[in-house]
Order: sequence, then structure tokens, then C-alpha cells
Amino acid sequence: MAISLVKTSTAAAESKPPLLEVRNIEVVYHDVVFAVKGVSLTVAAGQVVTLFGPNGAGKTSLVRAISRLLQSVEGEIRSGSVRFDGNALDALAPHQIARRGLYQIPEGGNVIKELTVRENLLLSQFCRDGSGSLNDDYARVVDRFPLLKTREAQLGGYLSGGEQQMLSMAKALLANPRLLVLDEPSLGLSPMLMQENFDALRELNRDFGIAILAIEQNARVALDIASYGYVMESGRVVYDGPAEQLRENREIQEFYLGLEGGLKKSFRDVKHYKRRKRWLS
Ligand SMILES: Nc1ncnc2c1ncn2[C@@H]1O[C@H](COP(=O)(O)OP(=O)(O)OP(=O)(O)O)[C@@H](O)[C@H]1O
Ligand SMILES: [Mg+2]
Repeated sequence: MAISLVKTSTAAAESKPPLLEVRNIEVVYHDVVFAVKGVSLTVAAGQVVTLFGPNGAGKTSLVRAISRLLQSVEGEIRSGSVRFDGNALDALAPHQIARRGLYQIPEGGNVIKELTVRENLLLSQFCRDGSGSLNDDYARVVDRFPLLKTREAQLGGYLSGGEQQMLSMAKALLANPRLLVLDEPSLGLSPMLMQENFDALRELNRDFGIAILAIEQNARVALDIASYGYVMESGRVVYDGPAEQLRENREIQEFYLGLEGGLKKSFRDVKHYKRRKRWLS
């Protein structure tokens, strides 16, 4: 599987192992439901990668496996490995993984509704590796998201969906990650908020060098900011390649980009399309 590096594509960067390396991961729920059936994937330092696929493809299960969040939902990694920055994550708890620089925003965001915006942000101190000043970084983050400054004392649950996504992103930034994993960050957002969300992601990548792995249903926007993409179906990666290649692929255009003979399809159709076995050949 080829890796395409973005701005870090120097000879030195190419000789380094990828920041995230997932190898042949299998995820099983309740000992019987095989949700992920041997998926491999890499993200290089500073790279933006997207992963998309229909409902039930195993995308969320895969990111739960990466961040070790399967236990609470009665799932387990049956085989395979996840390495971050060259180290196996097997023996680590989720908060220890976050401290190493791998931060996940789960589907629906990571806002604790009963806590204020400020309290939500300060929780990120437990995900930091101890370097840098929390106060300085706090100031920098609310400077980037000025709306949050005006809402510091408000409960997270009272923010709108878009504002909660913004707070999720701000919490992630304050955790000082090297890799941010997002599970459908634009779900339920209006097209304008979705675009803002992706602009913010692009900025986190460009200005802070944070690598991104974004699971997304809106492949069009995701392929716009990503340099590499994976398509997952029925627990397997069925297609992967540089973003330009995915954008030009006829079937991906048809099923994920809403183009078919020049006619647009709705995302409803795209999300529920019938599985195409020939991708597996
Ligand atoms: N806690 C669980 N217990 C049992 N089965 C589960 C559990 N979570 C997910 N599954 C099953 O695992 C498979 C993959 O689900 P997963 O949520 O990973 O898919 P997804 O690609 O994220 O889908 P979506 O696009 O709807 O979010 C599905 O068949 C699902 O029913
Ligand atoms: Mg999911």
C-alpha cells in the first residue's frame, strides 16, 4: 500500500516509519460479530488521510481499535497491531495513548454536556504530555476559536451542534496531539458549518503540523483536504490511493461523490448503495 506524504515529503521524512501504522487489525464484538476483518492503514507525520465507506463498514470499530476504546462496547482486537510513532500501543490505556499524542474525537464529538466550556477545555490537560504551558496554550486556543471565549461559563450541552464540534476541535488542539483521529466530524452539520469545520481541520494541519485521520461520509470535502484515502466495505479496505486517484475513480465518483453520467445522487443513495463485489477483485 503506497503512502503519499504531504508537506513533509523530504528524503528524511520518507525514511522514517509512519506515525500511525495499523496492520491486519481484526475487531470482534461479543466474540461473534466480526466488524473489521484484517485492515491495514498508515498515516505519516503531518499527513491528512481520509477513510470512508457505507454504514456498518467497520469504520468506527477501526478507530476504536486504534484508540483502545473497544472494551467499553464489548469489543476486542482479535489480531493485528497498531503502532504509533514506532511503538506498540497494546499495553496502554486510552488516556496514556492520548498523552503520547494520538487524540480521538469520537462520533458526536467529545463535549461533556454537564461541564462548562472552560471546564471542557481544561480536561485536555490530562491528555497533554507535560511539555509547554497550559495557560499559554489555552490563550492560543481561545484566540483561534473566539466564540468559545465568549461562552466560557456556559454549559457544553447548551452549545449548538456546530459549536460543540468547534469545542471538540479546540479540546483536541489543547491536548497538543501529533495525530488527530475524527469519526464523522461533519455528521448533522449544515453545509456551511461542515465547510467551516473542514477549514479548521486544514488549519490545524497546516499551522500546527497535526496529522489527521478523518472518517467521513462526505467524501468530496474529505478528499479536498486529504492527500490519501481509504475506502472500507464490510470490514475490509477495498480501495486506497492518493486523493487525486480516488477523485478520478469512476465508482467512487458514482457512489461517494454523487456523480453518475453527470447526474447528482443524494447522499442518502450513496450511503445505502448495494455492495459492489468487483472492488474486491
Ligand atoms: N458494540 C457493538 N456490539 C455489537 N456489534 C457492533 C457494535 N458496534 C458495532 N457493531 C457492528 O459492527 C459492524 C461495524 O460497525 P461500525 O459502527 O464500526 O460501522 P461504521 O462503518 O462506523 O458505520 P456508520 O457509517 O453507520 O457509522 C456493524 O455490523 C455493527 O452492527
Ligand atoms: Mg461509524
